[in-house]
Amino acid sequence: MIKIDTQSVDFYYGDFHALKNISMQIEANTSVAFIGPSGCGKSTYLRLFNRMNDLIPGTRLTGSICIDGRNIYDKGEKVDQLRKNVGMVFQKPNPFPKSIYENVAYGLRVNGVKDESYIEETVVKTIKQVALWDEVKEKLRESAFALSGGQQQRLCIARALAISPSILLMDEPTSALDPISTGKIEDLIHELKMQYTIVIVTHNMQQAARVSDKTGYFYLGELIEYDNTRKIFTNPEKESTQNYITGRFG
Ligand SMILES: Nc1ncnc2c1ncn2[C@@H]1O[C@H](COP(=O)(O)OP(=O)(O)OP(=O)(O)O)[C@@H](O)[C@H]1O
Ligand SMILES: [Mg+2]
Repeated sequence: MIKIDTQSVDFYYGDFHALKNISMQIEANTSVAFIGPSGCGKSTYLRLFNRMNDLIPGTRLTGSICIDGRNIYDKGEKVDQLRKNVGMVFQKPNPFPKSIYENVAYGLRVNGVKDESYIEETVVKTIKQVALWDEVKEKLRESAFALSGGQQQRLCIARALAISPSILLMDEPTSALDPISTGKIEDLIHELKMQYTIVIVTHNMQQAARVSDKTGYFYLGELIEYDNTRKIFTNPEKESTQNYITGRFG
């Protein structure tokens, strides 16, 4: 089943043409990695999936992006509904200045959930889901800032998952983490893609190879090649892809 269907997308920051004629289909319950040199448009494209670029003045989009068959840019589409369905995790862990528990409960509370026992059940379930439970179960009421960077990032993933999205966007989620924390997040991505569709931007080629089913290689705002990850990393069609994955530039 196609989860995200992008057709002929062009995107502009003012006069700057940041994404050029991108078409791509992402299947449900798979993980897709975006790779490419700095400034090629990976984050810009990722942010289109939950309309994060709407907040930037002077931007313009043409073409269509459908999620579950609906164009998310159609008039009348509700952005808050969209963002419930499409969660996001950023490069630097960004927990709120609240307790571990309240970080995960936050999304439920802002969505009007009042049932405390349901909130508690969800918080516990979600913290277990991100394999953080054993590390935090004794200190759920302590500040999230007391956690390590890797724990904070897993907490941010839990916060995103608590409101039951079906898509999880991750923009370089491990670039600020040590190798062990990175490994834990990569293991988690393997687990999560059974239930979620995951799109991850990464500069780490090994990471793309380890965690993704398909990989898209971007260069100067164009999607140069999009294929099975194994194919991209062993036998890409385009010379530009080959040059990038072998480290000849970027
Ligand atoms: N808010 C903005 N206003 C104007 N131009 C922007 C804005 N954000 C990004 N750009 C430009 O759009 C292009 C793509 O940027 P983007 O952040 O999507 O690249 P990226 O592939 O994610 O790079 P990196 O790997 O460094 O994160 C760049 O040339 C960038 O300068
Ligand atoms: Mg980026």
